[in-house]
Amino acid sequence: MNILLLGSGGREHALAWKMKQSEKLSQLFIAPGNPGTAALGTNLNINPNDFSAVKNAVLQNNISMVVVGPEEPLVRGIYDFFAADSELKNIPVVGPSKVGAQLEGSKDFAKQFMAKFSIPTARYKSFTSKNIDEAFAFLESLKPPYVLKADGLAAGKGVLILDDLNEAKTQLQEMLNGMFGESSSTVVVEEFLSGVELSVFVLTDGKSYKILPEAKDYKRIGEGDTGLNTGGMGSVSPVPFATAEFMEKVRTRIVEPTVKGLQSEKITYKGFIFFGLINVGGEPMVIEYNVRMGDPETESVMLRLDADLVDLFDGVAKGNLAERRCGIAPQAAASVVCVSGGYPGDYQKGIAINGLENVKNSLTFHAGTRMNNGVLETAGGRVVVVSSTADTLQNALIKSYAEVENFSYEGKYFRRDIGKDVM
Ligand code: AMP
Ligand code: GLY
Repeated sequence: MNILLLGSGGREHALAWKMKQSEKLSQLFIAPGNPGTAALGTNLNINPNDFSAVKNAVLQNNISMVVVGPEEPLVRGIYDFFAADSELKNIPVVGPSKVGAQLEGSKDFAKQFMAKFSIPTARYKSFTSKNIDEAFAFLESLKPPYVLKADGLAAGKGVLILDDLNEAKTQLQEMLNGMFGESSSTVVVEEFLSGVELSVFVLTDGKSYKILPEAKDYKRIGEGDTGLNTGGMGSVSPVPFATAEFMEKVRTRIVEPTVKGLQSEKITYKGFIFFGLINVGGEPMVIEYNVRMGDPETESVMLRLDADLVDLFDGVAKGNLAERRCGIAPQAAASVVCVSGGYPGDYQKGIAINGLENVKNSLTFHAGTRMNNGVLETAGGRVVVVSSTADTLQNALIKSYAEVENFSYEGKYFRRDIGKDVM
């Protein structure tokens, strides 16, 4: 079958790499893709949020399945757009419906869902500018630090964690006054949870589910988890503290009730669920849901997924995922993200990348690159992800860190401590 994958980052390059190994795949199209995906299929210069352009591409290229990488088209309702279109309605979209995507698109929706199905998460209340006095009273009832979350999508920037009560009140007011535009017209205030985070990924057809390899990502720009938040500076899988016992708690207390809850609410959901979890004294709790795979987690997860990814997607589309084989390889995977100098602040684009072809023992996934007159150059904050597998996490990291030295561009930066905290 011909498949169209939407997105353009390292996540999509890794998904394309895995899909390419399937005998069920005929032609792969990626929109818009990047120079990495161009080596695996045909890039189409289309914005994934332009649904009518996506429709034309699907019809023109005889596409029989669409896989959605990023959250935005999902939150904007690409699933429903296909379901409602007479020419597209038989073409499955791997991803949740617009309502299902609210698990990521609205923190308030996600918290209400978790409360309804007794899924462990931080205690919370939601507020708008109409009940700011109650919001202040709720803040006063909590212990510091204080967690404030913009309800809507805010490009990963909508969460503030503050130590001081007065500062929390001020920032809450600012958020309600439009600090993140419409996204923060409702704010979720919640209790702070202390622990180590991990990401658990599930693929579901709405009835059954498969748990993919778990991963840990490193969000801060600086070593030792310091400095500003980024899209993610690296990832490892497996996560040593995610023992069989811990993962069984994740499955029974979090994954099962989520999939069953979606079903009982009659929410159509045929795609990935990303559980952002925190280990609080051995007990998993949900920090957030995302309705897509993580980046750079995918780059490590795909290396350990012992399955035919296209076969799994086919199971999602046909509603018989339970019958498909999905294993987890015993080896460890580690991904190191190389970013542009200055990121996550201002940075330059269009800097030539030299020597990527010298990387022989690891995979390189393109995150923010472009071709300019035959020269590969930087085109984003996160540029290239170097991903390796080995018998142990330590050896996978050694491999990635050795290969990271084999290519260069001006301003290249990466963290040297990925995985250190969990070994
Ligand atoms: P989110 O966008 O909900 O993932 O929040 C971004 C980051 O803020 C998370 O990855 C956590 O590191 C942190 N965070 C969010 N909620 C909490 C919480 N209740 N307690 C502690 N840290 C949190
Ligand atoms: N790595 C976290 C995310 O993709 O949201």
